[in-house]
Amino acid sequence: MMRSHYCGQLNESLEGQEVTLCGWVHRRRDHGGVIFLDIRDREGLAQVVFDPDRAQTFAKADRVRSEYVVKITGKVRLRPAGANNANMASGAIEVLGYELEVLNEAETPPFSLNEYTDVGEETRLRYRFIDLRRPEMAEKLKLRSRVTSSIRRYLDENGFIDVETPILTRATPEGARDYLVPSRTHPGSFFALPQSPQLFKQLLMVAGFDRYYQIAKCFRDEDLRADRQPEFTQIDIETSFLDEDDIIGITEKMIRKLFKEVLDLEFGEFPHMPFSEAMSRYGSDKPDLRIPLELVDVADQLKDVDFKVFSGPANDPKCRIAALRVPGGGAMPRKQIDDYTKFVGNYGAKGLAYIKVNERAKGVEGLQSPIVKNIPEANLNVILDRVGAVDGDIVFFGADKTKIVCDALGALRIKVGHDLNLLTCEWAPMWVVDFPMFEEAEDGSLNSLHHPFTSPKCTPAELEANPAAALSRAYDMVLNGTELGGGSIRIHDKAMQQTVFRVLGISEAEQEEKFGFLLDALKFGAPPHGGLAFGLDRLVMLMTGAQSIREVIAFPKTQSAADVMTQAPGEVDPRQLRDLHIRLREQVKAD
Ligand code: AMO
Ligand code: AMP
Repeated sequence: MMRSHYCGQLNESLEGQEVTLCGWVHRRRDHGGVIFLDIRDREGLAQVVFDPDRAQTFAKADRVRSEYVVKITGKVRLRPAGANNANMASGAIEVLGYELEVLNEAETPPFSLNEYTDVGEETRLRYRFIDLRRPEMAEKLKLRSRVTSSIRRYLDENGFIDVETPILTRATPEGARDYLVPSRTHPGSFFALPQSPQLFKQLLMVAGFDRYYQIAKCFRDEDLRADRQPEFTQIDIETSFLDEDDIIGITEKMIRKLFKEVLDLEFGEFPHMPFSEAMSRYGSDKPDLRIPLELVDVADQLKDVDFKVFSGPANDPKCRIAALRVPGGGAMPRKQIDDYTKFVGNYGAKGLAYIKVNERAKGVEGLQSPIVKNIPEANLNVILDRVGAVDGDIVFFGADKTKIVCDALGALRIKVGHDLNLLTCEWAPMWVVDFPMFEEAEDGSLNSLHHPFTSPKCTPAELEANPAAALSRAYDMVLNGTELGGGSIRIHDKAMQQTVFRVLGISEAEQEEKFGFLLDALKFGAPPHGGLAFGLDRLVMLMTGAQSIREVIAFPKTQSAADVMTQAPGEVDPRQLRDLHIRLREQVKAD
């Protein structure tokens, strides 16, 4: 072994001891005839001093530049009084350098590591191996490793068995596009990369494994956002003979223990909230409960008003009119309201009506608003009472298709909550339960809200009679407005599974073709089972306070699902394509 200690681990207890450090030159300074090198390794920084007494070593130290890889031997000594650096873990000591060996030189890095520079993300990703040298990046990856280690320990101790499932497989429908891999040995056929291990973990239950987990890579070709990557990691769990309360209990305990071990945080109660309540109060199936603002339905008061923007939606069952009261928001300047109007426009809202409550005692006179002239005072009063408006508040209104109102005001409540510093706590975990089985697409067809293997709360006959009204045995864990994980009790009865497929418009032939193996398994003694999966990247993002999951993934993809470092995806040799029985369309070649 070359090194005796990590830089970041040096402290006063080593005073007088000889140490050998290996690392990168973080910073080099000349000071009154002595040279200071800050040496960096994954555990932190240490200051090494070279004085001219050792002429040869001093000359070498004089030659090194930023990011050279060096090996240094020297003696630990306390820093002179007043020279301590509180920002450095090893800031009370320094190393008097005796020997210095340059293990490798480095060109000037594309961005500086020893001072804050505003480097574009593209550059950081292109040179990720340098970006990851930054202590704050290393911290995140180290925390991620502690997370998986804590979770493995918990699941191992609770009788879960870690089983790997295939990456080259058939499509698992989780609602995204598949990544496909052409088969050389089966011309014209393709593997799909798994969107999740869902069907394999269910088959493991049929096989009798009883408690399974896997830290599994999943692949989804979908539009990327700050909390989505095309390839990401799930903490995937499945169990047999347990109901939803058991599964919620086991996994909630896992998350509690994780936050205690890694961040020394103790969570309070995780409230359970039905999906319908989450949508009506927060406009979202993943409400951020740190923010105390709520949506309040007011359509009943606006059915007969002489204002089409409101009377239309008020009389349409597919629409919603909701009010959002912002305490103290009355002081908001016009410009800010305009910005919020633009913001809700991103979610399809056609406007953002508002009432500023200056002085309620004065009636309509005390209200400032582009819409009060259109609403009878009696109705206005009911609305203002219902939202609990007091002087100094602003009340926003959304009137449109239910989805647009929920999306727009749901996002607005979060934005306003942050802008006005209204957060009531730092952590707000919860469970959302009682999801509908299906959601209706634009064309009236039904899609699974979770996935088609989720068990409904009713019988097959009831499901078939009124699928849109059926609830599922699904549950999501939500933390601070992020969906951390989700799962369900699964269907273990073949007739029920076929009913769900039928409702989804999947013909018998297609069922057999795509899911024949699952239907087979359900025939041969499938136990009652259920589970869930957490998004590891999202979990670590929240635990580190990162703004994007890209910050907690060593080598993430860009917004356009590319890797700018390896330049993937890339072109392939025509011979490779021939082997795979693939010919590119002329159009693609021309592009
Ligand atoms: P689901 O699709 O809800 O469920 O995924 C589970 C969790 O995985 C995370 N996640 C993602 N993270 C980053 N990038 C993505 N593109 C992405 N997509 C999902 C989320 C999410 O809560 N098989 C089921 C689970 C089950 O029923 O057991 C499933 O995959 O945190
Ligand atoms: P207008 O009569 O279109 O000028 O709109 C009057 C007010 O209603 C403005 O404050 C608009 O921002 C607002 N508004 C318009 N359409 C909607 C809508 N669908 N939901 C909520 N407010 C709206």
